[in-house]
Amino acid sequence: MTRTDANRVPAVDLGGATMPLIGYGTHPMRGETATAAVIEALDVGYRLIDTATRYQNEAAIGAALERSDVPRDEVFVTTKMPPDQVGRERLTLEQSLTALRTDHVDLWLIHWPPGGHPGVTSWQEFARARAEGLVSAIGVSNYSVDLIDRLHAETGIHPAVNQLQWGPGDFDPEFEEAMRSRGVLISSHSSLRSTDLEDPLLLDIAEHHGRTVPEIVVRWGIHHGVAVTVKSAHRSRMEQNLAVTGFALADAEIEAVDDLNGRLSRSRRRRGRAAALGG
Ligand SMILES: NC(=O)c1ccc[n+]([C@@H]2O[C@H](COP(=O)([O-])OP(=O)(O)OC[C@H]3O[C@@H](n4cnc5c(N)ncnc54)[C@H](OP(=O)(O)O)[C@@H]3O)[C@@H](O)[C@H]2O)c1
Repeated sequence: MTRTDANRVPAVDLGGATMPLIGYGTHPMRGETATAAVIEALDVGYRLIDTATRYQNEAAIGAALERSDVPRDEVFVTTKMPPDQVGRERLTLEQSLTALRTDHVDLWLIHWPPGGHPGVTSWQEFARARAEGLVSAIGVSNYSVDLIDRLHAETGIHPAVNQLQWGPGDFDPEFEEAMRSRGVLISSHSSLRSTDLEDPLLLDIAEHHGRTVPEIVVRWGIHHGVAVTVKSAHRSRMEQNLAVTGFALADAEIEAVDDLNGRLSRSRRRRGRAAALGG
Protein backbone atom coordinates (compact mmCIF):
# COMPACT_ATOMS: atom_id res chain seq x y z
CA MET A 1 0.00 0.00 0.00
CA THR A 2 1.50 3.33 -1.04
CA ARG A 3 1.20 6.26 1.30
CA THR A 4 2.01 9.59 -0.32
CA ASP A 5 3.96 12.04 1.81
CA ALA A 6 1.30 14.62 2.64
CA ASN A 7 3.97 17.06 3.79
CA ARG A 8 5.21 17.41 0.23
CA VAL A 9 1.98 18.96 -1.02
CA PRO A 10 2.50 22.74 -1.15
CA ALA A 11 0.17 24.86 0.96
CA VAL A 12 -0.83 28.52 1.21
CA ASP A 13 -1.54 30.67 4.23
CA LEU A 14 -5.07 32.08 4.09
CA GLY A 15 -4.46 34.15 7.22
CA GLY A 16 -6.14 31.89 9.76
CA ALA A 17 -5.78 28.55 7.98
CA THR A 18 -3.13 26.81 5.90
CA MET A 19 -4.69 25.39 2.75
CA PRO A 20 -3.05 22.47 0.89
CA LEU A 21 -2.87 23.06 -2.87
CA ILE A 22 -4.29 19.61 -3.64
CA GLY A 23 -7.66 18.69 -2.18
CA TYR A 24 -9.93 15.68 -2.33
CA GLY A 25 -13.35 16.32 -3.90
CA THR A 26 -16.32 14.30 -2.65
CA HIS A 27 -19.13 15.06 -5.11
CA PRO A 28 -21.26 13.03 -5.95
CA MET A 29 -20.39 10.31 -3.41
CA ARG A 30 -22.71 9.74 -0.45
CA GLY A 31 -23.20 7.39 2.47
CA GLU A 32 -20.76 4.58 3.14
CA THR A 33 -19.18 5.07 -0.30
CA ALA A 34 -18.22 8.62 0.66
CA THR A 35 -17.06 7.57 4.14
CA ALA A 36 -14.85 4.79 2.79
CA ALA A 37 -13.44 7.02 0.01
CA VAL A 38 -12.53 9.83 2.41
CA ILE A 39 -10.87 7.43 4.86
CA GLU A 40 -8.89 6.06 1.91
CA ALA A 41 -8.02 9.55 0.63
CA LEU A 42 -6.72 10.54 4.07
CA ASP A 43 -4.70 7.33 4.17
CA VAL A 44 -3.24 8.09 0.74
CA GLY A 45 -2.16 11.50 2.04
CA TYR A 46 -4.84 14.06 1.15
CA ARG A 47 -5.20 16.68 3.86
CA LEU A 48 -8.00 18.76 2.32
CA ILE A 49 -11.52 17.37 2.03
CA ASP A 50 -14.00 19.35 -0.10
CA THR A 51 -17.72 18.99 0.56
CA ALA A 52 -20.88 21.11 0.45
CA THR A 53 -24.31 21.20 2.04
CA ARG A 54 -25.70 20.45 -1.42
CA TYR A 55 -23.69 17.19 -1.75
CA GLN A 56 -25.68 15.64 1.13
CA ASN A 57 -22.56 13.81 2.25
CA GLU A 58 -21.36 15.92 5.19
CA ALA A 59 -22.49 13.30 7.72
CA ALA A 60 -20.67 10.60 5.77
CA ILE A 61 -17.55 12.76 5.79
CA GLY A 62 -17.96 13.47 9.49
CA ALA A 63 -17.96 9.70 10.05
CA ALA A 64 -14.77 9.41 7.99
CA LEU A 65 -13.05 12.20 9.93
CA GLU A 66 -13.93 10.39 13.14
CA ARG A 67 -12.88 6.94 11.93
CA SER A 68 -9.65 7.96 10.16
CA ASP A 69 -6.28 7.63 11.90
CA VAL A 70 -5.49 11.18 10.77
CA PRO A 71 -6.33 13.69 13.54
CA ARG A 72 -8.99 16.30 12.68
CA ASP A 73 -6.53 19.16 13.26
CA GLU A 74 -4.34 17.85 10.43
CA VAL A 75 -7.22 18.01 7.95
CA PHE A 76 -8.44 21.12 6.14
CA VAL A 77 -12.22 20.85 5.68
CA THR A 78 -14.06 22.98 3.13
CA THR A 79 -17.84 23.16 2.94
CA LYS A 80 -20.24 25.40 1.04
CA MET A 81 -23.58 27.07 1.68
CA PRO A 82 -26.07 26.80 -1.19
CA PRO A 83 -27.54 30.15 -2.26
CA ASP A 84 -31.07 29.09 -1.34
CA GLN A 85 -29.99 29.31 2.30
CA VAL A 86 -29.68 33.10 2.25
CA GLY A 87 -31.17 34.31 5.54
CA ARG A 88 -30.47 30.93 7.19
CA GLU A 89 -26.67 31.12 7.12
CA ARG A 90 -26.09 30.37 10.80
CA LEU A 91 -28.51 27.45 10.85
CA THR A 92 -26.90 26.01 7.71
CA LEU A 93 -23.43 26.32 9.25
CA GLU A 94 -24.57 24.69 12.49
CA GLN A 95 -26.03 21.80 10.49
CA SER A 96 -22.74 21.44 8.60
CA LEU A 97 -20.72 21.44 11.83
CA THR A 98 -22.99 18.85 13.43
CA ALA A 99 -22.90 16.59 10.36
CA LEU A 100 -19.13 16.95 10.02
CA ARG A 101 -18.71 16.27 13.77
CA THR A 102 -16.44 19.27 14.17
CA ASP A 103 -16.46 22.58 16.03
CA HIS A 104 -15.20 24.55 13.02
CA VAL A 105 -14.62 24.30 9.29
CA ASP A 106 -11.42 25.57 7.77
CA LEU A 107 -13.09 27.20 4.77
CA TRP A 108 -16.75 28.09 4.21
CA LEU A 109 -17.84 29.13 0.72
CA ILE A 110 -20.97 30.65 -0.79
CA HIS A 111 -21.54 27.87 -3.35
CA TRP A 112 -22.93 30.12 -6.12
CA PRO A 113 -23.84 33.82 -6.27
CA PRO A 114 -27.36 33.98 -4.77
CA GLY A 115 -29.74 34.87 -7.60
CA GLY A 116 -26.74 36.07 -9.59
CA HIS A 117 -26.06 38.75 -6.94
CA PRO A 118 -22.99 39.11 -4.70
CA GLY A 119 -24.85 37.96 -1.57
CA VAL A 120 -23.86 40.84 0.71
CA THR A 121 -26.04 39.89 3.69
CA SER A 122 -24.75 36.31 3.56
CA TRP A 123 -21.19 37.59 3.36
CA GLN A 124 -21.72 39.65 6.52
CA GLU A 125 -22.94 36.47 8.27
CA PHE A 126 -19.90 34.61 6.95
CA ALA A 127 -17.62 37.31 8.41
CA ARG A 128 -19.45 37.01 11.76
CA ALA A 129 -18.96 33.24 11.80
CA ARG A 130 -15.26 33.76 11.11
CA ALA A 131 -14.96 36.32 13.92
CA GLU A 132 -16.55 33.77 16.27
CA GLY A 133 -14.07 31.06 15.21
CA LEU A 134 -16.70 28.76 13.69
CA VAL A 135 -14.86 29.00 10.37
CA SER A 136 -11.19 29.81 9.82
CA ALA A 137 -11.51 31.37 6.37
CA ILE A 138 -14.37 32.46 4.13
CA GLY A 139 -14.72 32.48 0.37
CA VAL A 140 -16.98 32.15 -2.64
CA SER A 141 -17.48 29.79 -5.53
CA ASN A 142 -18.34 30.41 -9.17
CA TYR A 143 -18.00 34.23 -8.77
CA SER A 144 -16.98 36.67 -11.50
CA VAL A 145 -14.52 39.53 -10.89
CA ASP A 146 -17.42 41.97 -10.92
CA LEU A 147 -19.33 40.05 -8.22
CA ILE A 148 -16.22 39.90 -6.05
CA ASP A 149 -15.67 43.64 -6.50
CA ARG A 150 -19.29 44.36 -5.54
CA LEU A 151 -18.97 42.14 -2.44
CA HIS A 152 -15.81 44.00 -1.46
CA ALA A 153 -17.31 47.44 -2.16
CA GLU A 154 -20.24 46.69 0.18
CA THR A 155 -18.34 44.98 3.00
CA GLY A 156 -14.62 45.78 2.66
CA ILE A 157 -13.91 42.04 2.82
CA HIS A 158 -12.38 40.09 -0.03
CA PRO A 159 -12.99 36.34 -0.20
CA ALA A 160 -9.89 34.30 0.63
CA VAL A 161 -10.80 31.82 -2.12
CA ASN A 162 -12.90 31.64 -5.29
CA GLN A 163 -13.61 28.03 -6.28
CA LEU A 164 -14.56 27.52 -9.91
CA GLN A 165 -14.08 25.25 -12.87
CA TRP A 166 -10.44 25.76 -13.86
CA GLY A 167 -8.71 23.37 -16.21
CA PRO A 168 -6.54 23.94 -19.28
CA GLY A 169 -9.70 24.73 -21.28
CA ASP A 170 -10.67 27.47 -18.80
CA PHE A 171 -7.29 29.18 -18.46
CA ASP A 172 -7.68 32.95 -18.55
CA PRO A 173 -4.59 34.98 -17.61
CA GLU A 174 -6.62 38.16 -17.07
CA PHE A 175 -8.94 36.44 -14.61
CA GLU A 176 -5.95 34.84 -12.90
CA GLU A 177 -4.31 38.26 -12.52
CA ALA A 178 -7.57 39.83 -11.32
CA MET A 179 -7.81 37.22 -8.54
CA ARG A 180 -4.12 37.53 -7.66
CA SER A 181 -4.24 41.34 -7.42
CA ARG A 182 -7.21 41.09 -5.05
CA GLY A 183 -5.52 38.44 -2.90
CA VAL A 184 -8.13 35.83 -3.87
CA LEU A 185 -6.83 32.27 -4.25
CA ILE A 186 -8.25 30.35 -7.21
CA SER A 187 -9.41 26.89 -6.19
CA SER A 188 -10.21 24.65 -9.13
CA HIS A 189 -12.96 22.13 -9.50
CA SER A 190 -13.57 19.72 -12.39
CA SER A 191 -10.11 20.30 -13.89
CA LEU A 192 -9.96 16.65 -15.01
CA ARG A 193 -13.62 16.25 -15.85
CA SER A 194 -13.52 19.32 -18.11
CA THR A 195 -10.36 18.18 -19.92
CA ASP A 196 -9.94 15.85 -22.89
CA LEU A 197 -7.57 13.33 -21.27
CA GLU A 198 -6.72 12.07 -24.79
CA ASP A 199 -5.58 15.48 -26.03
CA PRO A 200 -2.43 14.89 -28.14
CA LEU A 201 -0.42 17.73 -26.59
CA LEU A 202 -1.21 16.59 -23.04
CA LEU A 203 -0.39 13.00 -24.03
CA ASP A 204 2.98 14.15 -25.46
CA ILE A 205 3.90 16.06 -22.30
CA ALA A 206 2.77 13.15 -20.12
CA GLU A 207 4.85 10.70 -22.14
CA HIS A 208 7.90 12.98 -21.94
CA HIS A 209 7.72 12.96 -18.12
CA GLY A 210 6.66 9.31 -17.80
CA ARG A 211 3.43 10.54 -16.16
CA THR A 212 -0.29 10.42 -16.92
CA VAL A 213 -2.38 13.26 -18.36
CA PRO A 214 -4.26 13.80 -15.04
CA GLU A 215 -0.88 14.26 -13.31
CA ILE A 216 0.09 16.86 -15.93
CA VAL A 217 -3.22 18.71 -15.45
CA VAL A 218 -2.86 18.78 -11.64
CA ARG A 219 0.82 19.80 -11.91
CA TRP A 220 -0.13 22.59 -14.32
CA GLY A 221 -2.66 23.91 -11.79
CA ILE A 222 -0.12 23.82 -8.95
CA HIS A 223 2.38 25.69 -11.16
CA HIS A 224 -0.17 28.50 -11.46
CA GLY A 225 -0.62 28.55 -7.67
CA VAL A 226 -4.16 27.16 -7.96
CA ALA A 227 -5.60 24.98 -5.18
CA VAL A 228 -6.65 21.95 -7.24
CA THR A 229 -9.65 19.89 -6.08
CA VAL A 230 -9.79 16.40 -7.60
CA LYS A 231 -12.12 13.51 -7.02
CA SER A 232 -11.56 9.84 -7.66
CA ALA A 233 -13.33 6.89 -6.12
CA HIS A 234 -10.28 4.70 -6.87
CA ARG A 235 -7.20 4.45 -4.72
CA SER A 236 -4.73 4.17 -7.62
CA ARG A 237 -6.11 7.39 -9.13
CA MET A 238 -6.19 9.13 -5.73
CA GLU A 239 -2.46 8.32 -5.49
CA GLN A 240 -1.77 9.41 -9.05
CA ASN A 241 -3.53 12.77 -8.63
CA LEU A 242 -1.62 13.53 -5.44
CA ALA A 243 1.81 12.34 -6.56
CA VAL A 244 2.64 15.40 -8.62
CA THR A 245 5.27 17.05 -6.47
CA GLY A 246 8.23 14.97 -7.72
CA PHE A 247 8.50 16.66 -11.12
CA ALA A 248 8.12 20.05 -12.76
CA LEU A 249 6.87 21.20 -16.15
CA ALA A 250 9.19 23.31 -18.31
CA ASP A 251 8.12 26.89 -19.06
CA ALA A 252 7.45 25.94 -22.70
CA GLU A 253 5.18 23.09 -21.56
CA ILE A 254 3.24 25.40 -19.22
CA GLU A 255 2.79 27.90 -22.04
CA ALA A 256 1.64 25.15 -24.42
CA VAL A 257 -0.97 23.96 -21.89
CA ASP A 258 -2.04 27.60 -21.29
CA ASP A 259 -2.50 27.95 -25.04
CA LEU A 260 -4.86 24.97 -25.14
CA ASN A 261 -7.50 27.31 -23.76
CA GLY A 262 -9.07 28.44 -27.04
CA ARG A 263 -8.87 25.05 -28.71
CA LEU A 264 -10.27 23.04 -25.79
CA SER A 265 -13.00 25.57 -25.12
CA ARG A 266 -14.12 25.29 -28.72
CA SER A 267 -14.11 21.49 -28.68
CA ARG A 268 -15.93 21.44 -25.33
CA ARG A 269 -18.58 23.75 -26.68
CA ARG A 270 -19.05 21.35 -29.58
CA ARG A 271 -19.50 18.43 -27.21
CA GLY A 272 -21.67 20.50 -24.88
CA ARG A 273 -19.77 19.18 -21.86
CA ALA A 274 -19.61 22.48 -20.02
CA ALA A 275 -23.36 22.49 -19.64
CA ALA A 276 -23.28 18.96 -18.27
CA LEU A 277 -20.89 19.75 -15.40
CA GLY A 278 -22.51 19.92 -11.97
CA GLY A 279 -21.37 19.85 -8.35
N1 LIG B 1 -17.87 24.67 -6.34
C1 LIG B 1 -18.52 24.03 -7.29
O1 LIG B 1 -19.47 24.52 -7.89
C2 LIG B 1 -18.06 22.63 -7.66
C3 LIG B 1 -18.51 22.06 -8.88
C4 LIG B 1 -18.04 20.77 -9.21
C5 LIG B 1 -17.17 20.12 -8.35
N2 LIG B 1 -16.77 20.69 -7.17
C6 LIG B 1 -15.83 19.99 -6.24
O2 LIG B 1 -14.65 19.71 -6.95
C7 LIG B 1 -14.42 18.29 -6.91
C8 LIG B 1 -13.71 17.84 -8.17
O3 LIG B 1 -14.48 18.15 -9.32
P1 LIG B 1 -15.19 17.02 -10.20
O4 LIG B 1 -15.49 15.84 -9.34
O5 LIG B 1 -16.29 17.69 -10.91
O6 LIG B 1 -14.13 16.69 -11.32
P2 LIG B 1 -12.63 16.11 -11.37
O7 LIG B 1 -12.08 15.86 -10.03
O8 LIG B 1 -11.90 17.02 -12.30
O9 LIG B 1 -12.88 14.76 -12.16
C9 LIG B 1 -13.50 13.67 -11.55
C10 LIG B 1 -13.69 12.61 -12.63
O10 LIG B 1 -12.41 12.25 -13.17
C11 LIG B 1 -12.16 10.86 -12.93
N3 LIG B 1 -10.75 10.75 -12.53
C12 LIG B 1 -10.17 11.19 -11.39
N4 LIG B 1 -8.86 10.95 -11.40
C13 LIG B 1 -8.58 10.33 -12.58
C14 LIG B 1 -7.39 9.82 -13.16
N5 LIG B 1 -6.23 9.91 -12.53
N6 LIG B 1 -7.48 9.25 -14.39
C15 LIG B 1 -8.66 9.17 -15.05
N7 LIG B 1 -9.83 9.64 -14.55
C16 LIG B 1 -9.79 10.21 -13.31
C17 LIG B 1 -13.11 10.45 -11.81
O11 LIG B 1 -13.50 9.11 -11.95
P3 LIG B 1 -13.33 8.01 -10.77
O12 LIG B 1 -13.94 8.56 -9.51
O13 LIG B 1 -14.08 6.82 -11.31
O14 LIG B 1 -11.85 7.76 -10.65
C18 LIG B 1 -14.31 11.38 -12.05
O15 LIG B 1 -15.14 10.83 -13.07
C19 LIG B 1 -15.81 17.68 -6.68
O16 LIG B 1 -15.74 16.36 -6.20
C20 LIG B 1 -16.37 18.67 -5.70
O17 LIG B 1 -15.86 18.42 -4.40
C21 LIG B 1 -17.19 21.94 -6.83
